[in-house]
Amino acid sequence: MATSDSDILLLESIHSGADELLAQEGLRIARADGSLEGEELIERLATTRMVGIRSKTGMTREVIERSPHLQAIGCFCIGTNQVDLEAAADHGISVFNSPFSNTRSVAEMTLAEIISLHRRLFDRSMRLHQGRWDKSAASAHEVRGRTLGIVGYGHIGSQISVLAESLGMRVVYHDILSVMPMGNARPCRTLDDLLDVSDVVTLHVPETEGTRNLIGPAELERMKPTAALINNARGSVVDLDALRTALESGSIAGAAIDVYPVEPRSNSMEFACPLAGLDNVILTPHIGGSTQEAQEQIAAEVAVKIARFDHTGTTTTSVNVPEVELPVRPPDQVRILHFHRNVPGVLSKMHAIIAEHEVNITAEYLRSTGTLSYLIMDCGRLKGTDALERLASLDETIRMRVLRPD
Ligand code: NAI
Repeated sequence: MATSDSDILLLESIHSGADELLAQEGLRIARADGSLEGEELIERLATTRMVGIRSKTGMTREVIERSPHLQAIGCFCIGTNQVDLEAAADHGISVFNSPFSNTRSVAEMTLAEIISLHRRLFDRSMRLHQGRWDKSAASAHEVRGRTLGIVGYGHIGSQISVLAESLGMRVVYHDILSVMPMGNARPCRTLDDLLDVSDVVTLHVPETEGTRNLIGPAELERMKPTAALINNARGSVVDLDALRTALESGSIAGAAIDVYPVEPRSNSMEFACPLAGLDNVILTPHIGGSTQEAQEQIAAEVAVKIARFDHTGTTTTSVNVPEVELPVRPPDQVRILHFHRNVPGVLSKMHAIIAEHEVNITAEYLRSTGTLSYLIMDCGRLKGTDALERLASLDETIRMRVLRPD
């Protein structure tokens, strides 16, 4: 391998907490400002074993194929669609992310919006900015005793459930899975049942075929005229034109929207939205999960996953390769980390090579998904390099790494 004075390259101003953690784990870090692309990215990856990125660095098939030493990609964010996951798996490169580190941040913002919509805080603040004193109790309500309808009762939805009950709200929820209620929350069998009774409906579902335009004209029509809608999930879940019509006609009373069908890729780009200028509508630029605390937690979570992968070969929680983990390697054992094509007979070929060298296998775990298999094997010290060279050059081998006794 080409020599490098670092083990991991961090791009896109990843939170500095990552450096601290990676350094504690003995990894040497290089940084580059901002995101890199094209030839510049490929050049920096030429000698790098691992890379840390956020959402802007495009790890395309070409970039991956031209980075022969790359073993792991850490996405210091939630999404992984900036990485060609299949190309990475084809090359035995493990991809890690941090799917739930910003759960609390989204939950807190949603709670702020529930209260703000009930008190029309944004309208009143906007008028005052324009020099208009508008002191009135009209359309202003406490949230205590009102009903919150949560659609999607996963990590975020269930956390909001707990926080909302602590404010004295009644909570109902609807999920396609049968999930346990938190506190006194009550499940609704159908979305319609939830829409009928809710004073605020908040969406926390993933983007899937089943959630596309989940809230359209019929659902908005079904909501109470005094109710509000919050979408901090994904832009495809709400039909924004239908929402504008519903707000203008008074069939619902307010909305808070953080996510849009099309979002600008950078802060310097223009943004247009059918809801702009409407009363009691809070628009935020996809910041539900964007807090310093979330960034710090993401940095810590992904750094730990990367360091564990590097030191032990563990791929648990990887988003694209089989999840394999073995207990700590005894100090006198060799650990072989072997990605290979998922075809019959590879394991027996590997065992035969090890047996020929009269060495015991003390632990092993193999898992396959699709066309890829990943094996972690611990065995005694192998004399010479013959066995390892033969394992690495099996026809089916995609990538092999060896952790040796100190
Ligand atoms: P999760 O996977 O923990 O929960 C999603 C829940 O939705 C699951 O319980 C699932 O069964 C349920 N669900 C799926 N389809 C449904 C349907 N058609 N009807 C009812 N329930 C359905 O996900 P998590 O972490 O709670 O995130 C929820 C959403 O929030 C995701 O779309 C995520 O992308 C988005 N998000 C937005 C952020 C922002 O900055 N605004 C930040 C973080 C997440």
